[in-house]
Amino acid sequence: MKKKLTFLGIETSCDETAASIVTETDDGLGQILSNVVSSQINEHKEFGGVVPELAARAHIEKIDLIINEAIKKSNLKLKDIDGVAATAGPGLIVCLTVGLGTAKAIAASLNKPFVAVNHLEGHALSPKIINRISFPYLLLLISGGHTQFLEVQGIGKYKRLGTTIDDAIGEAFDKTAKLIGIEFPGGPQIENFAKKGDETYFDLPKPIINKGGCNLSFAGLKTAVLKISKKINTEKEKFDLAASFQKTVEDILHTKSKIAMDMFRNNNNNNTGVFVIAGGVASNKRIRNKLKNLAIVEKYKPIFPPINLCSDNAAMIAWVGIEKFKLNLNNKLDFPAKARWPLDENAPFMKGAGIKL
Ligand code: KG4
Ligand code: ZN
Repeated sequence: MKKKLTFLGIETSCDETAASIVTETDDGLGQILSNVVSSQINEHKEFGGVVPELAARAHIEKIDLIINEAIKKSNLKLKDIDGVAATAGPGLIVCLTVGLGTAKAIAASLNKPFVAVNHLEGHALSPKIINRISFPYLLLLISGGHTQFLEVQGIGKYKRLGTTIDDAIGEAFDKTAKLIGIEFPGGPQIENFAKKGDETYFDLPKPIINKGGCNLSFAGLKTAVLKISKKINTEKEKFDLAASFQKTVEDILHTKSKIAMDMFRNNNNNNTGVFVIAGGVASNKRIRNKLKNLAIVEKYKPIFPPINLCSDNAAMIAWVGIEKFKLNLNNKLDFPAKARWPLDENAPFMKGAGIKL
């Protein structure tokens, strides 16, 4: 019988210090034995966003404790693991190097394999921990730094169908929250504010909704929110702005996802398939419901990771470690931290002016 693999995963690409132990089940899925995530909300609150040096210092202070806690919670000993995986990019270099260096040191001291993981691949494969999904599938990755439609063709094989040409969707949520006066990190709070508001109250723009295929844009929406935020005073208006913003984003994702579904179908002999959403913004329940319904209408099977696997965590990193190790894709200990590491290396860099849509 083939040995079931157990990996330690470590994640420090931004403001979450996370460690997790994941083991394979008999049927080839993953069992999360522990999943410890420590957020740095208090460190960054007064600055209204993540300060790289402060984030790195907090990672250094916590990383040992978090890894120890993950091992303890798994009821295993460090020597029982088969390998160590860590996020090597994309992200803040000063932060990445903390988790990456620690992972390399543990792997070297135990003489176990080391796997460098792309954080985005962690999100992309996260639904595979608990669902049997075959390649290819359509992925909408919506996080603090990324907004992309990707065809997931295999481990390390991605074709980008569309991306944001300016801000990431999570950034738009966080900036809107800030303008409304919600403390960092505001994205999840917008969802709560929106429940109390009238989503039809403000008419907000949907940039490039009728052009650019499944590429997206949020800069114009952000500017519109900025203008309105200067004029509103009452709590009711704040709730209405949060609700109107969230509804606009839902509509943009709905329209663009439909286009991406058609593109995926065309690329894959008109077969429908699985539609996955991942990343922090995928924990938004309104967005989940809207896209789930669209998938059903479009005859796609929606497989969305549970909410605790949508935001940054190390279970998804451990899982990619297992998947890559099974393909002999482990790395040498000199693997560098990478600030930029696109999943589809062939896709053009889309940010900035002069983009033809
Ligand atoms: O994937 P993630 O945890 O970190 C990155 O890799 O970026 O995503 C974080 C982003 C933040 O912008 C946060 O505000 C947003 O996800 N987010 C949400 C919700 N929960 C997290 N946005 C909207 N609704 C939510 N419920
Ligand atoms: Zn992330």
